Amino acid sequence: MKSPLSVWTIIVQTVGLVCLSLPTTIIAQSCTPSTTTSGNCTRQRFSNLGVIIDRIGVVGPEECFWDGPPPTDPAVTSPAYNIPQGSCALIARHPTQGWRFGLILPPPSQYKRRFFATGNGGFNGGINWPEFSFAPHYGAAVVGTDTGHNSSDAGSGSQDGMKWVTDATKRTNWAYQAMDGAVHFGKILTNAFYGSGLSVERAYFSGCSTGGRQGLKYIQRHANDADKMDGVIIGAPAWNLKEMLPNQMNTAIANLHRQADGNITSTPVLERAEWAALTAAAFALCDAKVDGSSSANYNPGGDKVVSIDDCFTGNETEYNESLKRVAPNLTDEQRLAAVAIYKGLVVAVNGAKMTVFPGPQPGGEADWTLALGTGLETTFDQGLAQYWLADARAGTPWTVNSWDSIYKDGLTGKQWVYRESTRSGSTINEPTADDFAAMANYEGKLLLYHGIADGLIPVASSNKLHREITNIKAEGEWFRYFQVPGMHHCAWYPNGNPAMGFPYIDTSYPPWYIAAAYQPSTIGSSQGYGVPGHDDPPDPAYDAIQAMIDWVERSSSPSPASLIATAFNSSSVVRTRKLCAYPQKAVYTGSNINDSSSWTCTTV
Ligand SMILES: *[C@@H]1O[C@H](CO)[C@@H](O)[C@H](O)[C@H]1NC(C)=O
Ligand SMILES: *[C@@H]1O[C@H](CO)[C@@H](O)[C@H](O)[C@H]1NC(C)=O
Ligand SMILES: *[C@@H]1O[C@H](CO)[C@@H](O)[C@H](O)[C@H]1NC(C)=O
Ligand SMILES: *[C@@H]1O[C@H](CO)[C@@H](O)[C@H](O)[C@H]1NC(C)=O
Ligand SMILES: *[C@@H]1O[C@H](CO)[C@@H](O)[C@H](O)[C@H]1NC(C)=O
Ligand SMILES: *[C@@H]1O[C@H](CO)[C@@H](O)[C@H](O)[C@H]1NC(C)=O
Ligand SMILES: *[C@@H]1O[C@H](CO)[C@@H](O)[C@H](O)[C@H]1NC(C)=O
Ligand SMILES: *[C@@H]1O[C@H](CO)[C@@H](O)[C@H](O)[C@H]1NC(C)=O
Repeated sequence: MKSPLSVWTIIVQTVGLVCLSLPTTIIAQSCTPSTTTSGNCTRQRFSNLGVIIDRIGVVGPEECFWDGPPPTDPAVTSPAYNIPQGSCALIARHPTQGWRFGLILPPPSQYKRRFFATGNGGFNGGINWPEFSFAPHYGAAVVGTDTGHNSSDAGSGSQDGMKWVTDATKRTNWAYQAMDGAVHFGKILTNAFYGSGLSVERAYFSGCSTGGRQGLKYIQRHANDADKMDGVIIGAPAWNLKEMLPNQMNTAIANLHRQADGNITSTPVLERAEWAALTAAAFALCDAKVDGSSSANYNPGGDKVVSIDDCFTGNETEYNESLKRVAPNLTDEQRLAAVAIYKGLVVAVNGAKMTVFPGPQPGGEADWTLALGTGLETTFDQGLAQYWLADARAGTPWTVNSWDSIYKDGLTGKQWVYRESTRSGSTINEPTADDFAAMANYEGKLLLYHGIADGLIPVASSNKLHREITNIKAEGEWFRYFQVPGMHHCAWYPNGNPAMGFPYIDTSYPPWYIAAAYQPSTIGSSQGYGVPGHDDPPDPAYDAIQAMIDWVERSSSPSPASLIATAFNSSSVVRTRKLCAYPQKAVYTGSNINDSSSWTCTTV
């Protein structure tokens, strides 16, 4: 196993500015995927199994594999690194449905009859190779799909980020068909490779954001069949797309300047400088609330605070007034835009105004870049009305300007989008993962986690998911939920940006890292898996993947009541803290704020 910390020469590569693709931190290192075949790693071995092998090779000394640079609009532009030499890697394609998947099979000597599926991000098409690296280190074969189309959310040239949505097969692929197929055929290929007596014994899933949605959708569709999962690790899932996407539009449009006549222009109200000011304001307000001073640094859910909820009551008038005091440079228009974003999506349902989807918590503004780029509306925000809602595709051309004015059927654009998105039969129901009744039959384990400072998918969305699931079946031995104080979308801050005061690795930040989906790719590709310092072998106290494996495979390992999260500087782990199974929270009870043993899980 490599010692990662000595080779942390990190180059931050932001894949697409105006898009939802999570940026990947990679080492400047080339990858020429091997096409050498030998032993059982040959096309013949995988012939007549229902899929076409596009590419296959035995992983060589570069320890990497991928498609190679995409010829068209790239969604995933870097390889899987740190794959054991001698692994068999391949790309397979379904003969008629158009989706492909990648499969990495570790050498038989390292294989422990485990199988992992890993997820995607945003609406991207493309095999998410950077999220493959972890599995072989846990003795697992690993599969991931391209979701059945090629494009990034932003799109460029002829590739409109969401144009693929007009193709019903591609919609179904992205919704579930590509993942269903990748798992089904991935297992068949895995069993063919290792041969009799070594068939897959345990199947797992790990994914965040869209990956989290894919995992939930998967266990809802395969709760208890031959392709069922034994354990799934689900991060910040975009499960509730039919309500989440209208709220994304709301966020984007709230940030556009209105003329005096009410017309909505394409000028952003809040840009990065103001987001940073809002974050600073959140820190200041929270400090003042918690200890009556503003001396300590407020980290969302940081040292003093167990949750941002402790600082913000959701009273907009109060927040508006407080902002005037701590962020005096914001104009009225800017402050009102911020309040409108935090408020979430409010629509009249049966005559009564209701918040149908929560806004992001103050403090997570750095994540707004994921959906807003530098402040403007993006394809991602408009894609719902333009492509997902059949009526908008066929009928009156959608314009942002209709958001506040009557668009159709006597409804404003906002009301209409919400109604169309949530009605039964809406195409956005297809990917939405809300079949909770099916989960009553799920026989595996579920570990859910979500960053409290997530500014893209608010933690409140996972709280709702937790309520919906536990209404069906009580948690405990099969289901655990961990909120991660201070963590943004899937990682501590996915768009590390020193100019905004958010470097990639910030030791003052609350510990967040649990080696779950996407996280290893943010701390350097030479790592690829596990928690530095606790990875040989992976320690289930720190590592969510190993915690799940032990939970499933060892009768002596009950459901985890806590996990230890870590934070790093560029060369070592500098802080640890407990994450507690919801609704418990970590309370500081010791003498070293940087040591997890000083924190106790308590019901507060
Ligand atoms: C996506 O691009 C790859 C080449 O990188 C190609 O093999 C594949 O067929 C494309 N998929 C679709 C659905 O167009
Ligand atoms: C190929 O797999 C078979 C089991 O089906 C095994 O007996 C054989 O040793 C494998 N060959 C190589 C070169 O790994
Ligand atoms: C406002 O929008 C309407 C409809 O899009 C348009 O007819 C009108 O010219 C716009 N007004 C201004 C001042 O741009
Ligand atoms: C916020 O303050 C502005 C004036 O600065 C006022 O117009 C607005 O109504 C206030 N909003 C709320 C929700 O209190
Ligand atoms: C919000 O706070 C203001 C000022 O503290 C108070 O007057 C008002 O009643 C509060 N509103 C609600 C809904 O609690
Ligand atoms: C407000 O703007 C002034 C002038 O640009 C600047 O000196 C001051 O530091 C700003 N205040 C805050 C709280 O950002
Ligand atoms: C805790 O860690 C922070 C950031 O690394 C450091 O500034 C602080 O001095 C540490 N505190 C203790 C008690 O070690
Ligand atoms: C990282 O933290 C370790 C342990 O606290 C310390 O010894 C080391 O000097 C730090 N490295 C950097 C680059 O700050």
